[in-house]
Amino acid sequence: GKVGVLYGGRSAEREVSLMSGQAVYEALISEGVNAHLFDTGQHGLGELAAQQFDRVFVALHGRYGEDGTIQGALELLGIPYTGSGHLASAVAMDKIMTKRLWQQAGLPTPDYRVVFNEQDLLDLPQALSLPLILKAPNEGSTIGLCKVTASDQLSEAYRQVSPYDSVILAEKFITGRELTVAVLGKGLGAAALPIIEIIAPGGSYDYQSKYFSDETQYLCPASLPNALSDQISEIAVRAYRVLGCEGWARADVMLDADMRPWLLEMNTSPGMTGHSLVPMAAKAAGMSFGELCVKILSQARC
Ligand code: DAL
Ligand code: MG
Repeated sequence: GKVGVLYGGRSAEREVSLMSGQAVYEALISEGVNAHLFDTGQHGLGELAAQQFDRVFVALHGRYGEDGTIQGALELLGIPYTGSGHLASAVAMDKIMTKRLWQQAGLPTPDYRVVFNEQDLLDLPQALSLPLILKAPNEGSTIGLCKVTASDQLSEAYRQVSPYDSVILAEKFITGRELTVAVLGKGLGAAALPIIEIIAPGGSYDYQSKYFSDETQYLCPASLPNALSDQISEIAVRAYRVLGCEGWARADVMLDADMRPWLLEMNTSPGMTGHSLVPMAAKAAGMSFGELCVKILSQARC
């Protein structure tokens, strides 16, 4: 059948998605799939329907791509698509909603407050202690995010982050090792790929180090005691199930100095660029990039 690779889109992560989509498209072609690129930032839903794709691979990141909106549209159009459904996509896009569900399920996620206005900043140093991090709840790739190490930085940090969203997440900053866990599959069949540890230059895994730096180091599988590695994988899979994720996703996790894991967020349409993490984890599990793309595509649902 005819497969569409949805990429680009209109979010702040458009540039990343163009790279992800291109990589997925090339991999599918090399696996013999009849794949076609489709930029949802350039073409509307009418054009999408006219393409008569038998299924689509969603390689979009951020708003209108990873947040349940395109997923809902694809459901209405009756086109099977990869990854999570509209509800799990919407919930996972919002870091505050995600944390509420994880907390309710007893999963470890750093303490947080919701910041509705500048007045709410005043309580934060006492409520969360410093350092803390302000995050636009619906962004990705380290966009709309600012670390605060002293109280007098709060207003400026808020000024930087608040344009991205109507409410802001203030989260206790976990100092420690940065891990990420890819999960593939559905329901009880969901399973974690080998854990990756990220060692970024200067300790900051930001937009630049994510997509453009060759100095960021990745260890996969991460060097962890077996029991801890199993525990982190299990937490990631539970975090995935609690949100109702399907197909594939990637949980970002911090490991603190006491070797306690903390869930930061779930990415339901993770990066698939040449520098990206899920392809790295798949490779460590013996799966090529092409095989990974085909596997994700084979689980497309409507
Ligand atoms: N938001 C980026 C694409 C990621 O999580 O990989
Ligand atoms: Mg993210």
